[in-house]
Amino acid sequence: MKLVIMGTGYVGLVTGACLADFGHQVVCIDTNPERIKTLKEGKISFYEPGLEKIVKRNFPHRLTFSLNGEENIKKAEAVFICVGTPSKEDGSADLSSLYEVAKKIGKALNNYKVIIIKSTVPPGTSLEVKKLIIENSAGNIQFDIASNPEFLREGSAVEDFIKPDRIIFGAETKRAFSVLKEIFSFVSAPIVETNLATSEMIKYASNAFLATKVSFINAISRICEQVGADIQDVALGMGYDKRIGFEFLRPGPGFGGSCFPKDCKALLKIAGEGGYEFKILKSVLETNEEQKLFIVSKLEKNLGDLKGKLISILGLAFKAETDDVRESPAVGVAQILLKKGTRIRAYDPKAMENAKKVLSQLIYCANPYEACEGVEAILVLTEWEEFKNLDFKKIKRSLKKPIIIDARNLLNGTSLKTLGYNYVGVGR
Ligand code: UGA
Repeated sequence: MKLVIMGTGYVGLVTGACLADFGHQVVCIDTNPERIKTLKEGKISFYEPGLEKIVKRNFPHRLTFSLNGEENIKKAEAVFICVGTPSKEDGSADLSSLYEVAKKIGKALNNYKVIIIKSTVPPGTSLEVKKLIIENSAGNIQFDIASNPEFLREGSAVEDFIKPDRIIFGAETKRAFSVLKEIFSFVSAPIVETNLATSEMIKYASNAFLATKVSFINAISRICEQVGADIQDVALGMGYDKRIGFEFLRPGPGFGGSCFPKDCKALLKIAGEGGYEFKILKSVLETNEEQKLFIVSKLEKNLGDLKGKLISILGLAFKAETDDVRESPAVGVAQILLKKGTRIRAYDPKAMENAKKVLSQLIYCANPYEACEGVEAILVLTEWEEFKNLDFKKIKRSLKKPIIIDARNLLNGTSLKTLGYNYVGVGR
């Protein structure tokens, strides 16, 4: 099928590349000339395992990039909207890019197509988009609006797209549902067919629930420390219960990224506007903020006043396998430490360039060994595999004090203690 993807961010590019790989004819559109230029050179502006290979495999015969939305929309059978919906000051979703795209689609509308919204949007937005398309079109041209929220995770985006746990289709007509099914005929996953508002709501409810799981396990980890229990075994013991499951029970410095914090805030706002105070979710966000302070308090317990102290941060990305530092708890922790006058040496395998844009005061190091030189404590904030295999014997020789605060319970505490480290994990 001839498909157009509006927006070449995470969701847009993964969607475009994977749909082209399946055999569709895909054009990805973006308003950023620099981005389109680099994509045409086969380069991707962010780190995502496996994505570049798929882009290269399909460009330029099945996958192309263009600044020209209008021409390409005219030729398309379906148009995916994958633009960002960031948080506004008050927590609500900023839909301005989405509405701009809707107007563009309206102006280009020439024959029947399905307009599919993949961006995370508050329930009711698809209908607003539909209205805008009608208002901006020549009139009397048939089209359908559909909602197909995306559940891919950064770091495993390609795998998540090709093998999703489920696919959600929200639409108003049989014709739209059948176009959606045809586009995704290569995926074998349960499909939930529903109305637009429900489809939109499923995305928010899913992200809010997962964020709740993370804050819940972080809260339990606090209690574990009070009572002498081990959070790793608590999570394991809970996870075997099929109703709970093992996923998203890893304690840490809190959830971050471009989705959970933004979507939780937006859902709180949506609930509030309808007259319901979503207290659980409010508390999930509060617990998440507290978690960063909790990690800092572990440092203080071991080092006393942090003013003037030199420490090392290993990991700046909001999780492993990404270079993304948006809402990263590691960045949040670093900011708290900087306010306290702590000096920080830092290393991340992929996220340092992005971190430099938001944290200019850190001393960025070429490798983890350099980052640990002369410091009084090492703080592990992102669960990169490479940190597990470091030569901690060698590192210990260059430290001022052998203290490791492992905010992800990533390292082997027992062997580090044997090496003479004061090892501090979370919830154990
Ligand atoms: C999340 C969802 O998992 C995706 O399904 C969704 O498509 C995406 O948001 C989105 O809305 O676009 P992502 O933000 O890439 O994906 O990252 P996750 O893997 O969900 O992790 C989110 C945060 O929670 C990270 O900071 C991670 O370190 C933290 N986390 C996750 C934990 O602290 N503990 C866990 O057990 C799991």
